[in-house]
Amino acid sequence: MSAIILGIESSCDDTSAAVIKDGYLLSNVVSSQAVHEAYGGVVPELASRAHQQNIVPVVHEALKRAGVTKEELSAVAFTRGPGLMGSLLVGVSFAKGFARSLNIPMIDVNHLTGHVLAHFIKAEGEEERQPAFPFLCLLVSGGNSQIILVKAYNDMEILGQTIDDAAGEEAIDKCSKVMGLGYPGGPIIDKLARQGNPKAFTFSKPHIPGLDYSFSGLKTSFLYSLRDWLKDDPDFIEHHKVDLAASLEATIVDILMDKLRKAAKEYKINEIAVAGGVSANNGLRNAFQEHAEKYGWNIFIPKFSYTTDNAAMIGSAGYYEYMAGVRAGWDLNAVPNLKLGEKSLRGRIDS
Ligand code: KG4
Repeated sequence: MSAIILGIESSCDDTSAAVIKDGYLLSNVVSSQAVHEAYGGVVPELASRAHQQNIVPVVHEALKRAGVTKEELSAVAFTRGPGLMGSLLVGVSFAKGFARSLNIPMIDVNHLTGHVLAHFIKAEGEEERQPAFPFLCLLVSGGNSQIILVKAYNDMEILGQTIDDAAGEEAIDKCSKVMGLGYPGGPIIDKLARQGNPKAFTFSKPHIPGLDYSFSGLKTSFLYSLRDWLKDDPDFIEHHKVDLAASLEATIVDILMDKLRKAAKEYKINEIAVAGGVSANNGLRNAFQEHAEKYGWNIFIPKFSYTTDNAAMIGSAGYYEYMAGVRAGWDLNAVPNLKLGEKSLRGRIDS
Protein backbone atom coordinates (compact mmCIF):
# COMPACT_ATOMS: atom_id res chain seq x y z
CA MET A 1 0.00 0.00 0.00
CA SER A 2 1.47 3.36 -1.02
CA ALA A 3 0.98 6.18 1.47
CA ILE A 4 1.64 9.92 1.19
CA ILE A 5 1.46 11.76 4.53
CA LEU A 6 1.39 15.51 5.10
CA GLY A 7 3.02 16.30 8.47
CA ILE A 8 2.23 19.52 10.36
CA GLU A 9 4.13 20.91 13.36
CA SER A 10 3.05 24.07 15.22
CA SER A 11 3.68 23.34 18.91
CA CYS A 12 5.83 26.37 19.73
CA ASP A 13 7.40 29.02 17.49
CA ASP A 14 8.15 27.08 14.28
CA THR A 15 5.48 26.55 11.63
CA SER A 16 6.47 23.49 9.64
CA ALA A 17 5.03 21.15 7.01
CA ALA A 18 6.56 18.04 5.44
CA VAL A 19 5.58 15.40 2.91
CA ILE A 20 6.49 11.73 3.44
CA LYS A 21 5.92 9.16 0.70
CA ASP A 22 6.17 5.48 1.64
CA GLY A 23 8.35 6.41 4.60
CA TYR A 24 10.69 8.69 2.58
CA LEU A 25 10.87 12.43 3.19
CA LEU A 26 10.10 14.46 0.04
CA SER A 27 10.04 17.95 1.59
CA ASN A 28 10.40 19.68 4.96
CA VAL A 29 9.60 23.40 5.16
CA VAL A 30 10.19 25.29 8.42
CA SER A 31 9.23 28.91 9.02
CA SER A 32 10.81 30.17 12.26
CA GLN A 33 9.33 33.20 14.00
CA ALA A 34 11.88 35.99 14.42
CA VAL A 35 9.27 38.15 16.23
CA HIS A 36 10.23 36.60 19.62
CA GLU A 37 13.90 37.69 19.49
CA ALA A 38 13.03 41.19 20.73
CA TYR A 39 11.39 39.70 23.85
CA GLY A 40 14.13 37.21 24.80
CA GLY A 41 11.63 34.32 24.77
CA VAL A 42 8.54 32.97 23.02
CA VAL A 43 5.45 35.17 23.46
CA PRO A 44 2.52 32.71 23.13
CA GLU A 45 0.04 35.21 21.71
CA LEU A 46 2.48 36.33 19.00
CA ALA A 47 3.37 32.70 18.22
CA SER A 48 -0.30 31.81 17.54
CA ARG A 49 -0.72 34.82 15.28
CA ALA A 50 2.43 34.01 13.30
CA HIS A 51 1.32 30.36 12.89
CA GLN A 52 -2.02 31.62 11.58
CA GLN A 53 -0.20 33.74 8.98
CA ASN A 54 2.33 31.05 8.03
CA ILE A 55 0.43 27.78 7.99
CA VAL A 56 -1.18 27.98 4.51
CA PRO A 57 1.96 29.23 2.66
CA VAL A 58 4.16 26.67 4.49
CA VAL A 59 1.87 23.74 3.57
CA HIS A 60 1.59 25.03 -0.01
CA GLU A 61 5.40 25.21 -0.27
CA ALA A 62 5.88 21.71 1.21
CA LEU A 63 3.48 20.18 -1.33
CA LYS A 64 5.12 22.15 -4.16
CA ARG A 65 8.65 21.08 -3.23
CA ALA A 66 7.50 17.45 -2.91
CA GLY A 67 5.82 17.57 -6.32
CA VAL A 68 2.64 16.22 -4.76
CA THR A 69 -0.93 17.53 -5.15
CA LYS A 70 -3.24 17.69 -2.14
CA GLU A 71 -5.56 15.17 -3.84
CA GLU A 72 -2.74 12.58 -3.74
CA LEU A 73 -2.42 12.74 0.08
CA SER A 74 -3.41 9.65 2.10
CA ALA A 75 -3.57 11.34 5.53
CA VAL A 76 -2.64 14.44 7.55
CA ALA A 77 -0.45 13.93 10.64
CA PHE A 78 -0.21 16.78 13.12
CA THR A 79 1.24 17.63 16.53
CA ARG A 80 -1.47 17.28 19.16
CA GLY A 81 0.77 18.28 22.11
CA PRO A 82 2.65 19.05 24.25
CA GLY A 83 3.15 22.72 23.44
CA LEU A 84 1.51 26.12 23.63
CA MET A 85 -2.28 25.83 23.38
CA GLY A 86 -2.74 28.71 20.92
CA SER A 87 0.06 27.42 18.68
CA LEU A 88 -1.20 23.84 18.76
CA LEU A 89 -4.75 24.93 17.93
CA VAL A 90 -3.63 26.48 14.65
CA GLY A 91 -2.06 23.17 13.50
CA VAL A 92 -4.88 20.99 14.82
CA SER A 93 -7.60 23.16 13.29
CA PHE A 94 -5.80 23.36 9.97
CA ALA A 95 -5.31 19.57 9.92
CA LYS A 96 -9.00 18.99 10.65
CA GLY A 97 -10.23 21.35 7.95
CA PHE A 98 -7.71 20.14 5.36
CA ALA A 99 -8.26 16.42 6.02
CA ARG A 100 -12.06 16.81 6.16
CA SER A 101 -12.17 18.71 2.87
CA LEU A 102 -10.07 15.99 1.19
CA ASN A 103 -12.02 13.19 2.92
CA ILE A 104 -8.82 11.59 4.25
CA PRO A 105 -7.97 10.53 7.83
CA MET A 106 -5.96 12.46 10.43
CA ILE A 107 -3.25 11.06 12.69
CA ASP A 108 -2.36 12.77 15.96
CA VAL A 109 1.33 12.71 16.90
CA ASN A 110 2.88 13.40 20.29
CA HIS A 111 5.59 16.04 19.78
CA LEU A 112 8.00 14.16 22.10
CA THR A 113 7.47 10.89 20.21
CA GLY A 114 8.20 12.87 17.06
CA HIS A 115 11.57 14.03 18.43
CA VAL A 116 12.53 10.43 19.32
CA LEU A 117 11.36 9.07 15.96
CA ALA A 118 13.44 11.70 14.13
CA HIS A 119 15.98 8.85 14.08
CA PHE A 120 13.72 6.96 11.66
CA ILE A 121 13.33 9.73 9.08
CA LYS A 122 14.41 8.31 5.74
CA ALA A 123 15.45 10.54 2.83
CA GLU A 124 16.95 9.83 -0.61
CA GLY A 125 20.73 10.23 -0.53
CA GLU A 126 20.96 10.14 3.28
CA GLU A 127 22.59 7.30 5.19
CA GLU A 128 19.99 4.85 6.53
CA ARG A 129 21.23 4.11 10.01
CA GLN A 130 18.59 3.59 12.65
CA PRO A 131 18.79 2.49 16.29
CA ALA A 132 17.62 -1.05 17.05
CA PHE A 133 14.93 -1.60 19.71
CA PRO A 134 15.23 -1.38 22.64
CA PHE A 135 17.36 1.76 22.79
CA LEU A 136 17.79 4.68 25.17
CA CYS A 137 17.06 8.21 23.96
CA LEU A 138 18.17 11.35 25.75
CA LEU A 139 15.46 13.85 24.81
CA VAL A 140 16.59 17.42 25.41
CA SER A 141 14.21 19.87 23.78
CA GLY A 142 13.37 23.38 24.99
CA GLY A 143 10.99 22.24 27.71
CA ASN A 144 12.05 18.61 28.28
CA SER A 145 15.05 16.76 29.68
CA GLN A 146 14.21 13.06 29.72
CA ILE A 147 15.80 9.64 29.43
CA ILE A 148 13.44 7.41 27.47
CA LEU A 149 13.49 3.65 27.02
CA VAL A 150 12.27 3.13 23.45
CA LYS A 151 10.92 -0.41 23.11
CA ALA A 152 9.11 0.11 19.77
CA TYR A 153 7.83 2.95 17.54
CA ASN A 154 4.75 3.19 19.73
CA ASP A 155 6.04 1.90 23.06
CA MET A 156 8.19 4.29 25.10
CA GLU A 157 8.81 4.58 28.82
CA ILE A 158 10.27 7.60 30.65
CA LEU A 159 13.04 6.35 32.94
CA GLY A 160 14.01 9.76 34.26
CA GLN A 161 13.11 13.40 33.73
CA THR A 162 13.70 16.82 35.18
CA ILE A 163 11.96 17.45 38.48
CA ASP A 164 12.10 21.23 37.95
CA ASP A 165 13.70 23.13 35.05
CA ALA A 166 14.66 21.75 31.64
CA ALA A 167 18.20 22.11 30.29
CA GLY A 168 17.08 24.05 27.18
CA GLU A 169 14.72 26.97 27.75
CA GLU A 170 15.36 27.26 31.49
CA ALA A 171 19.08 26.56 32.01
CA ILE A 172 20.76 27.46 28.70
CA ASP A 173 18.35 30.11 27.40
CA LYS A 174 17.80 31.88 30.76
CA CYS A 175 21.54 31.96 31.64
CA SER A 176 22.23 33.31 28.17
CA LYS A 177 19.56 35.99 28.73
CA VAL A 178 21.20 36.97 32.04
CA MET A 179 24.47 37.41 30.15
CA GLY A 180 22.70 39.76 27.73
CA LEU A 181 23.13 37.42 24.77
CA GLY A 182 20.38 37.00 22.16
CA TYR A 183 17.49 34.53 21.93
CA PRO A 184 17.43 31.58 21.68
CA GLY A 185 20.57 31.25 23.77
CA GLY A 186 21.44 27.65 22.81
CA PRO A 187 23.16 28.29 19.45
CA ILE A 188 24.91 31.43 20.85
CA ILE A 189 26.26 29.64 23.93
CA ASP A 190 27.35 26.77 21.66
CA LYS A 191 29.32 29.14 19.39
CA LEU A 192 30.98 31.03 22.27
CA ALA A 193 31.77 27.82 24.17
CA ARG A 194 33.91 26.54 21.29
CA GLN A 195 36.41 29.35 22.02
CA GLY A 196 36.35 29.14 25.84
CA ASN A 197 37.80 27.10 28.69
CA PRO A 198 35.20 24.64 30.08
CA LYS A 199 37.12 24.40 33.36
CA ALA A 200 37.37 28.17 33.98
CA PHE A 201 34.37 28.31 36.34
CA THR A 202 32.56 25.77 38.49
CA PHE A 203 28.80 25.79 38.96
CA SER A 204 26.74 23.60 41.27
CA LYS A 205 25.57 20.18 40.11
CA PRO A 206 22.46 18.45 41.50
CA HIS A 207 22.46 15.39 43.75
CA ILE A 208 19.16 13.79 42.77
CA PRO A 209 18.64 10.07 43.30
CA GLY A 210 17.72 7.71 40.45
CA LEU A 211 17.62 8.82 36.85
CA ASP A 212 15.87 12.17 37.28
CA TYR A 213 17.41 15.53 36.43
CA SER A 214 17.37 18.95 38.07
CA PHE A 215 18.64 22.20 36.56
CA SER A 216 17.17 24.84 38.88
CA GLY A 217 20.18 24.74 41.25
CA LEU A 218 22.61 25.28 38.39
CA LYS A 219 20.58 28.25 37.11
CA THR A 220 20.58 29.84 40.57
CA SER A 221 24.29 29.11 41.07
CA PHE A 222 25.09 30.74 37.71
CA LEU A 223 22.96 33.80 38.58
CA TYR A 224 24.42 34.30 42.07
CA SER A 225 28.03 33.75 40.96
CA LEU A 226 27.58 36.27 38.16
CA ARG A 227 26.00 38.80 40.55
CA ASP A 228 29.05 38.53 42.89
CA TRP A 229 31.60 38.76 40.08
CA LEU A 230 29.84 41.80 38.59
CA LYS A 231 30.21 43.63 41.93
CA ASP A 232 34.01 43.50 41.54
CA ASP A 233 34.10 43.98 37.79
CA PRO A 234 31.09 45.57 36.02
CA ASP A 235 32.49 44.32 32.69
CA PHE A 236 32.96 40.77 33.97
CA ILE A 237 30.64 39.24 31.38
CA GLU A 238 32.37 40.98 28.48
CA HIS A 239 35.81 39.95 29.81
CA HIS A 240 34.86 36.29 30.41
CA LYS A 241 32.05 35.63 27.91
CA VAL A 242 33.60 32.63 26.18
CA ASP A 243 34.78 30.98 29.42
CA LEU A 244 31.36 31.50 31.06
CA ALA A 245 29.65 29.92 28.03
CA ALA A 246 32.12 27.01 27.93
CA SER A 247 31.85 26.32 31.68
CA LEU A 248 28.05 26.54 31.67
CA GLU A 249 27.81 24.21 28.66
CA ALA A 250 30.28 21.72 30.17
CA THR A 251 28.29 21.59 33.46
CA ILE A 252 25.01 20.96 31.62
CA VAL A 253 26.58 18.29 29.40
CA ASP A 254 28.12 16.58 32.46
CA ILE A 255 24.78 16.51 34.28
CA LEU A 256 23.03 15.06 31.20
CA MET A 257 25.71 12.42 30.51
CA ASP A 258 26.11 11.28 34.16
CA LYS A 259 22.49 10.08 34.33
CA LEU A 260 22.52 8.69 30.81
CA ARG A 261 25.59 6.60 31.69
CA LYS A 262 23.81 5.38 34.82
CA ALA A 263 20.72 4.41 32.76
CA ALA A 264 22.85 2.58 30.17
CA LYS A 265 24.50 0.60 32.95
CA GLU A 266 21.29 -0.19 34.84
CA TYR A 267 19.35 -1.28 31.73
CA LYS A 268 22.39 -2.89 30.07
CA ILE A 269 21.74 -1.04 26.81
CA ASN A 270 24.48 0.40 24.65
CA GLU A 271 22.26 1.54 21.75
CA ILE A 272 22.01 5.23 22.71
CA ALA A 273 20.36 8.13 20.86
CA VAL A 274 19.92 11.84 21.50
CA ALA A 275 17.08 14.06 20.24
CA GLY A 276 15.51 17.52 20.60
CA GLY A 277 16.77 21.06 20.03
CA VAL A 278 19.65 20.86 22.55
CA SER A 279 21.03 17.82 20.66
CA ALA A 280 22.31 20.36 18.11
CA ASN A 281 24.86 21.35 20.76
CA ASN A 282 28.45 20.57 19.77
CA GLY A 283 29.62 19.97 23.34
CA LEU A 284 26.88 17.36 23.83
CA ARG A 285 27.63 15.76 20.45
CA ASN A 286 31.34 15.55 21.37
CA ALA A 287 30.44 13.96 24.72
CA PHE A 288 28.40 11.33 22.85
CA GLN A 289 31.39 10.56 20.61
CA GLU A 290 33.68 10.25 23.65
CA HIS A 291 31.22 7.90 25.38
CA ALA A 292 30.97 5.80 22.22
CA GLU A 293 34.75 5.35 22.24
CA LYS A 294 35.10 4.85 25.99
CA TYR A 295 32.04 2.69 26.76
CA GLY A 296 31.42 1.04 23.38
CA TRP A 297 28.11 2.83 22.90
CA ASN A 298 26.46 2.59 19.50
CA ILE A 299 25.39 6.23 19.22
CA PHE A 300 22.74 7.95 17.11
CA ILE A 301 22.89 11.72 16.66
CA PRO A 302 20.27 13.33 14.40
CA LYS A 303 20.99 15.56 11.43
CA PHE A 304 20.94 19.23 12.54
CA SER A 305 17.72 19.97 10.62
CA TYR A 306 15.91 17.17 12.52
CA THR A 307 16.96 18.37 16.00
CA THR A 308 14.85 21.52 16.41
CA ASP A 309 11.10 21.53 15.78
CA ASN A 310 10.25 20.25 12.30
CA ALA A 311 7.37 18.52 10.54
CA ALA A 312 9.60 15.80 9.01
CA MET A 313 9.64 14.04 12.40
CA ILE A 314 5.86 14.48 12.81
CA GLY A 315 5.11 13.20 9.30
CA SER A 316 7.52 10.32 9.76
CA ALA A 317 6.01 9.31 13.13
CA GLY A 318 2.56 9.73 11.52
CA TYR A 319 3.58 7.41 8.70
CA TYR A 320 4.35 4.56 11.12
CA GLU A 321 1.07 5.18 12.96
CA TYR A 322 -0.84 5.27 9.65
CA MET A 323 0.65 1.93 8.61
CA ALA A 324 -0.32 0.52 12.03
CA GLY A 325 -3.94 1.60 11.43
CA VAL A 326 -4.03 4.48 13.92
CA ARG A 327 -6.54 7.24 13.13
CA ALA A 328 -7.55 10.35 15.10
CA GLY A 329 -11.17 11.28 15.74
CA TRP A 330 -12.71 14.46 14.34
CA ASP A 331 -13.60 15.67 17.82
CA LEU A 332 -10.01 15.45 19.08
CA ASN A 333 -8.52 18.53 20.75
CA ALA A 334 -4.99 19.82 21.27
CA VAL A 335 -3.45 18.86 24.65
CA PRO A 336 -0.79 21.36 25.87
CA ASN A 337 0.54 19.05 28.61
CA LEU A 338 0.30 15.76 26.70
CA LYS A 339 2.60 13.12 28.21
CA LEU A 340 4.77 10.71 26.28
CA GLY A 341 2.81 7.51 25.60
CA GLU A 342 -0.56 9.10 26.48
CA LYS A 343 -3.01 7.64 23.98
CA SER A 344 -6.36 8.25 25.62
CA LEU A 345 -8.96 10.77 24.43
CA ARG A 346 -8.10 10.25 20.81
CA GLY A 347 -11.67 11.19 19.88
CA ARG A 348 -14.34 9.55 17.79
CA ILE A 349 -13.41 8.34 14.33
CA ASP A 350 -16.85 7.60 12.98
CA SER A 351 -18.38 11.07 13.39
O1 KG4 B 1 13.34 20.98 20.38
P1 KG4 B 1 13.28 22.45 20.32
O2 KG4 B 1 13.45 23.12 19.00
O3 KG4 B 1 11.95 23.00 20.91
C1 KG4 B 1 11.10 22.29 21.71
O4 KG4 B 1 10.45 21.35 21.21
O5 KG4 B 1 11.06 22.63 22.90
O6 KG4 B 1 14.39 22.96 21.35
C2 KG4 B 1 14.65 24.32 21.55
C3 KG4 B 1 15.82 24.44 22.51
C4 KG4 B 1 16.08 25.86 22.95
O7 KG4 B 1 16.24 25.89 24.35
C5 KG4 B 1 17.40 26.20 22.24
O8 KG4 B 1 18.18 27.16 22.91
C6 KG4 B 1 18.07 24.85 22.22
O9 KG4 B 1 17.02 23.96 21.89
N1 KG4 B 1 19.16 24.76 21.22
C7 KG4 B 1 20.46 24.55 21.56
C8 KG4 B 1 21.19 24.59 20.34
N2 KG4 B 1 20.32 24.80 19.32
C9 KG4 B 1 19.07 24.89 19.88
N3 KG4 B 1 21.03 24.37 22.75
C10 KG4 B 1 22.37 24.21 22.77
N4 KG4 B 1 23.16 24.24 21.67
C11 KG4 B 1 22.61 24.42 20.44
N5 KG4 B 1 23.40 24.44 19.36
